Amino acid sequence: MRIAIIGAGYVGLVSGTCFSEFGVDVTCVDISEERVSNLQKGIIPIFEPGLDTMVKRNVDAGRLHFTTNLADIIPQADAVFIAVGTPSRRGDGHADLKYVYQAAEDVAKHLSGYTVIVTKSTVPVGTGREVKSIVAKTNPDADFDVASNPEFLREGAAIQDFMRPDRVVIGAETERALNVMRKLYQPLYRIEVPIVATSLETAELTKYAANAFLATKITFINEIADLCEKVGANVQDVARGIGLDGRIGKNFLHAGPGYGGSCFPKDTRALVRTAQDYNSPISIVESVVAVNDARPAKMAEKIMAACGGSVKGKKIALLGLTFKPNTDDMRESPSLYIVPELLKNGATIAAFDPKGAEHAKTLLPDITYAADPYETMQDADAVVILTEWNEFRALQLDRVKDLLKTPIMVDLRNVYKPEEMSEAGFTYVSVGR
Ligand code: NAD
Ligand code: UGA
Repeated sequence: MRIAIIGAGYVGLVSGTCFSEFGVDVTCVDISEERVSNLQKGIIPIFEPGLDTMVKRNVDAGRLHFTTNLADIIPQADAVFIAVGTPSRRGDGHADLKYVYQAAEDVAKHLSGYTVIVTKSTVPVGTGREVKSIVAKTNPDADFDVASNPEFLREGAAIQDFMRPDRVVIGAETERALNVMRKLYQPLYRIEVPIVATSLETAELTKYAANAFLATKITFINEIADLCEKVGANVQDVARGIGLDGRIGKNFLHAGPGYGGSCFPKDTRALVRTAQDYNSPISIVESVVAVNDARPAKMAEKIMAACGGSVKGKKIALLGLTFKPNTDDMRESPSLYIVPELLKNGATIAAFDPKGAEHAKTLLPDITYAADPYETMQDADAVVILTEWNEFRALQLDRVKDLLKTPIMVDLRNVYKPEEMSEAGFTYVSVGR
């Protein structure tokens, strides 16, 4: 089989590479000439563990290609996946669909023979139908169906998530389109991955419902963590105590600085707007959005309180800037809100992030960037763990204490144990413990 993936970003590049690993002939298309030319030279534009070796293997096998030119590949494709960005539209929180619709129009011009046009981007209910009408209008002779195949991978674990997903959701209108999609995912049948075949609308809504539910779980445990602090309970034990109940489940119950990233914030906002448009408001998700939006300011206050009530004139050592470990993605990272708040209150900041620093430098230009975790701590008044990268899990605590002016650690990811830290002589503040 032959497919094209439009958009070679986190989702497009990972999905395309994984499909080629299944044996499919894949061409990833991007409008960015620089991105495509780098990919053709073997330079991977994002950090995703294991992706570079998998790309190389499939390029070497002649199954994975990169181009900016749709005319070369669309006519031969059995399916075309649209995997371009769907960011929040400025001002109103709706998903901005201009990249999706542009891609649909571009693809339509080159269709030849039966093709399934699949939205892999996260798109609101009704987008698949709109794509169908754009393609039909642009190319009235085209023989095509549309399908919705939302992606559930997580950054940092993207390959594992794509190759061994909990389920694959396919929204399709015809048996013919569904068969093409089933054939593409055939290798997953061997590991008994459930395929959920639905209508277009159901598939589109399933994606938003999944992300909103996960965001709700995180926000719920964050508010329980706040209460734990007030009543002297331990949120990790509460999470374990509830998570072992199979109906609740133990994942996504880690309290922290609030969810960030390229998806939960924009997708919760978009779901809220869709629901309002249909006069069926989802007030629980509206609350989740509001609570999570307020969380970074709370975390900044927590840091200031740990520093004796103020960070004016103080130096903060910051470990981690990305919204989660194992990615270089800075989109909607809590650091983008917490850092300016601390700066506004008079702090100076030295930060270290293993993969996000390059991108962070353009977004957070008013802090200094260190070459390793310890360099941030020289004469700092406190160290703050903002992202739970593995390399922050076993810091040499004696060295940390020697470097810091005062032994204060604010651990917003609950990486360390409170008893261990107080034994080591730290004033230690974490979340919900
Ligand atoms: P991204 O910004 O990393 O990548 C999008 C790519 O599309 C960019 O390289 C851009 O140059 C390219 N592009 C834009 N318009 C184009 C066009 N007309 N033709 C060709 N290329 C074009 O975005 P992403 O993080 O991969 O997200 C893509 C979609 O997948 C979004 O809808 C997102 O919500 C969804 N999603 C993302 C993740 C994730 O972990 N990042 C997971 C699941 C779903
Ligand atoms: C999330 C979903 O997990 C994916 O299933 C989905 O495909 C993706 O969004 C998407 O639609 O783009 P991702 O954003 O890559 O994936 O990362 P997550 O691991 O879900 O983390 C999101 C945020 O929640 C991070 O800021 C993380 O630190 C936070 N989080 C996560 C917590 O605070 N606590 C948790 O228990 C889990």
